[in-house]
Amino acid sequence: MKRDAIYPGTFDPVTNGHLDIIERSSRLFGRVIVAILVNPQKETLFSLEERRRLLERSIPDGVTNVEVAVFRGLLVEFARQRSAGIIIRGIRAVSDYEYELQMALMNRRLEPEIETLFMLPAENYSYLSSRLVRELAENGGSVAGLVPDLVREALEKKYGRTV
Ligand code: PNS
Repeated sequence: MKRDAIYPGTFDPVTNGHLDIIERSSRLFGRVIVAILVNPQKETLFSLEERRRLLERSIPDGVTNVEVAVFRGLLVEFARQRSAGIIIRGIRAVSDYEYELQMALMNRRLEPEIETLFMLPAENYSYLSSRLVRELAENGGSVAGLVPDLVREALEKKYGRTV
């Protein structure tokens, strides 16, 4: 029996790197819950509703076992509520590892039954992040091929320029 997994993040905005991890994990798990953190302390470019809509509309039609959800508070609490035993995190370079290790071990301390699984995105997305996408778009660089077309359009609307 395949277990359910949770893929948490800020997704400001969703990138092709996130979508690559979502597709890979959808093949491994019964159900993948893509969970957007509600964090009033963190200023985001896109509102929660915008991020949720962009994510929902970016998931390919053929991928039917992925759900987009929103959570507040501790991730492990949300995972427990949704009976998801695996937390998925994408790791790009070694520089990601230190922060991810801290988070994974803290989550394990809080809930030893939940495992964190690190997954590698396709090499061509190994340098891609939402922060760099925002920075590119803000300064008029092209984000083609880095994000889905609808995210590119949303960025163009935000910044009032072609990206
Ligand atoms: O995309 P991000 O911003 O790297 O995602 C970070 C996220 C949302 C996974 C992380 O901040 C998180 O899980 N926050 C919820 C609070 C929590 O449970 N923290 C873990 C204990 S250290």
